[in-house]
Amino acid sequence: MDLLEAIKTRKSIRAFKADPVSKEQIEEMLRLVVRAPSAINLQPWEFYVVMGDEKARLSRRLVKLYREKQISCSPGNIKPLSAEFNKRGAESFILMNPYLEKMGMDFNCFVNEGSCNFYGAPTAVIMCLDNAFSEARLVDIGIALGYFVLIAHNLGLSTCPIGLINAYEDDIKEILNIPDNKDVVIGLALGYRDDSSPINEFTSPRDSVDNFIHWID
Ligand SMILES: Cc1cc2nc3c(=O)[nH]c(=O)nc-3n(C[C@H](O)[C@H](O)[C@H](O)COP(=O)(O)O)c2cc1C
Repeated sequence: MDLLEAIKTRKSIRAFKADPVSKEQIEEMLRLVVRAPSAINLQPWEFYVVMGDEKARLSRRLVKLYREKQISCSPGNIKPLSAEFNKRGAESFILMNPYLEKMGMDFNCFVNEGSCNFYGAPTAVIMCLDNAFSEARLVDIGIALGYFVLIAHNLGLSTCPIGLINAYEDDIKEILNIPDNKDVVIGLALGYRDDSSPINEFTSPRDSVDNFIHWID
């Protein structure tokens, strides 16, 4: 697939088949992901790839924790968001809801429990950063995430980034034996899309690019 075609057609997928993704496929993808640029070529990313029974165990524990703690998906803002940002968030919700209604699902339950379950994907990738780095290096992890979702799509796989898991960082580190000096940055659901699910018909909208550009000339 041509790169621009991959960019145009990729989207987050929220229903997966149980079919496993092999270690060979994941290594093939990661060899490409680590071609991403990083400051001073530090390549600060680390990938904990959770599969099989371990992935099922992780999902079960996270769903249970969500039910106990009720920490939901949120933008993680530290000041009130402007009306413009709130409008974009609300729009995604309004547009996704009809697909969830077809499935008889409530939005909050679907997105929060679904995220904790990596939407049924057979593989969960937890991207970590050594805590010796400053927050500036989160940029490098973000770039690698961007590469990852496009490379997976190009190879016929699907993904959904899962930021919700940050709320359960300590639990995830304990469940997966991730060392104390590693920070959990982002999760990724990885697998084959289940096209029998109405939710995968949903495509998120984008604002006009004019609203993002500040020309200085
Ligand atoms: C950093 C980050 C965190 C995200 N966290 C979640 C999440 O926890 N649950 C979820 O369902 N989607 C999550 N997403 C997916 C976004 O909702 C999605 O990328 C956005 O709505 C745009 O849709 P698209 O990816 O289909 O283009 C996350 C995306 C990013 C980049």
